[in-house]
Amino acid sequence: MGQSDAGRGAGAPRARLLGEPRDDGEKLQKVMAQAGVGSRRACEELIAAGKVTVNGEVAPLGRRVRSATDLVVVDGVPLALREGLAYYLLNKPAGVVCSAAGQDARPLVVDLVPAVPRVYPVGRLDAETEGLIVLTNDGDLAHALSHPSFGVDKEYVVRLEHELSAEAVRRLRRGVELEDGPTAPARVRLLGPATARVVIHEGRNRQVRRMCEAVGNRVTYLARTRIGPLVAPELAPGHWRQLSIAEITSLWKAALHGVPGDRRDRRGRSRPRV
Ligand code: URA
Repeated sequence: MGQSDAGRGAGAPRARLLGEPRDDGEKLQKVMAQAGVGSRRACEELIAAGKVTVNGEVAPLGRRVRSATDLVVVDGVPLALREGLAYYLLNKPAGVVCSAAGQDARPLVVDLVPAVPRVYPVGRLDAETEGLIVLTNDGDLAHALSHPSFGVDKEYVVRLEHELSAEAVRRLRRGVELEDGPTAPARVRLLGPATARVVIHEGRNRQVRRMCEAVGNRVTYLARTRIGPLVAPELAPGHWRQLSIAEITSLWKAALHGVPGDRRDRRGRSRPRV
């Protein structure tokens, strides 16, 4: 005989009738495997080792999840599975403004990607700056990518008005004094006499331009070529694509654990080298 409601403890799930579809989601290891974490066996091992949380609680083996609504975090990295979230990578052309609402006639980055669901640029590039920008409605990832405490690298190609002297490079690598305080050391590599690759992780307003001004030079062209592990040489200016789940996961990894090859000293500060 089937179990009656009266015979179950309060809050226990109702027994499923024969042929009735399950409404309590899918096995956690199956959802993890489908998201590319590894084989189901490897996922079970991660669950058994207590490395997987669902909505903030360590998940036991046998846990089922609804992938559209439950937040699954594996070893500190959220699985990008929640419904309604959109992630775009845009190569912003010069002249386009990085904001969600316009204050003048200039075009906006949000006009270059699908309008629904509504997404927002993560951080800012100046109107004159080209290059990679993430647009998303995932506030958690936006915070992790843009807040300086997560230290996600942003790499720029910079062209300057004058040759960059060895002393200027040394000063940029040490960090320079700006009116809103000293910058962290930048990683700087000369690509030519007046061209450099510069990596910073603070994302302050017009930071690269102001750092170059602080060492007596002026930026004539600026393009962001990398955000953490994310590069997209195939994206022409004005073009965008969706981020893959693997890319979203790699961004979380960069924010939470530092990207592989990231050079940090024991206090977590980036070292001034490229
Ligand atoms: N630094 C700048 O000066 N401008 C940008 O757009 C990005 C970084």
